[in-house]
Amino acid sequence: SGMAQFKEYFLGNGTPKSPRIADTQKCLRVSGKHNDLEDVGFDTYHHTMFEMLGNWSLWDYFKKESITWSYELLTDPKWFWINPKHLCVTVFEWDKDTPRDEESADIWKSLWMPAEKISYLSAKDNWWAAWATWPCGPDTEIFYWVGNWEPTPTSNVWNDEDNWMEIWNNVFMQFNRLEDGTLQPLPNKNVDTWMWLERITTTLNKKKSVYETDVFADVIEEIKNIVGEGNYLDKSAKIIADHIRSATHMIADGVIPKNVDQWYILRRLIRRAIREFYKMWYEGKIICKISKIYINKFSSIYDSIKNNSAKILDELSKEEDKFSKTLKDWIKEFEKLVKWFEIAFERSWKKVTVISWDKAFKLYDTYWFPIEMTSELAKEKELTVDTKGFNQAFQKHQ
Ligand code: SER
Repeated sequence: SGMAQFKEYFLGNGTPKSPRIADTQKCLRVSGKHNDLEDVGFDTYHHTMFEMLGNWSLWDYFKKESITWSYELLTDPKWFWINPKHLCVTVFEWDKDTPRDEESADIWKSLWMPAEKISYLSAKDNWWAAWATWPCGPDTEIFYWVGNWEPTPTSNVWNDEDNWMEIWNNVFMQFNRLEDGTLQPLPNKNVDTWMWLERITTTLNKKKSVYETDVFADVIEEIKNIVGEGNYLDKSAKIIADHIRSATHMIADGVIPKNVDQWYILRRLIRRAIREFYKMWYEGKIICKISKIYINKFSSIYDSIKNNSAKILDELSKEEDKFSKTLKDWIKEFEKLVKWFEIAFERSWKKVTVISWDKAFKLYDTYWFPIEMTSELAKEKELTVDTKGFNQAFQKHQ
């Protein structure tokens, strides 16, 4: 998990102490291929922070061993003993400069993975690269069935995506993308795999959602107690549970809320969580109470949390004070804006549905309301925001 630390080895510069490595790495992802941040709450397996469990082959084993051992770990009764019928896989389809990964497909078939369970997907899904240049390669991803019934023999990621949860990715780091875009074979073959701790925990506990595992379940329960059954919204609870876990770890690792870069991501996570409490009609100070559950749970595992618990609660409390003041004013201002659109529609019969960038920027500049949340609220009122214009103004402002 996390190939950047091994880049030089992949390029053949310097020999690794050991050709076989296992590691774990905390990872925050808010923009993946489906924009992970906005996927949180919509399904049972998206979350912004995850623990990547990795194993590495540096100039050692390659596709055959990696796929065979992955299958053994997942299905052998002496290990995870997952029903093979509840697994399916994807392999790299094809690209202008790289052939279809039939080699991986054939290895899966040799392990009795039926052809119907092997989907060939494009580079968007089955090619892993950290940047435009650097080591990269095709990958094969392994999915676990989370549907509410038994999967049909022909169900797979290609035709039934939402019922298959990605649990493991085996990346075959075998090329280097050069500045001019050409793919140069690496001097050695390498493997970089990563498994989602939260999702494999879901799988091994035969749950259907990561939010039912002991990473999140007690927090979800506490949120329900705080807001009451009548006001409880499942999507809001997942967003709060995920975002405050991520924020707790980020502050523990030295990030504080600001308006740029990773600090801005922390600000957005905290503010989105606060707003979700508002949507459940809860306006009191509450974020620290949620974070304390994570602090108590994870202090024995992470020194970063044990040693920074006071700082975590202090930063969250300060951000909550700042935002809850402006949030009420912001919502009033936003409602006025929506009213203005409704009147404009009645008068002119022209459905004006785009909030101009300057109005969106005023909401941001006056109330520090993240543009992404303005867009989300606008979407709920069937309006859109001219985010292109906003981003130009935001860049200038920065
Ligand atoms: N390839 C993924 C990463 O580099 C997992 O190792 O983060």
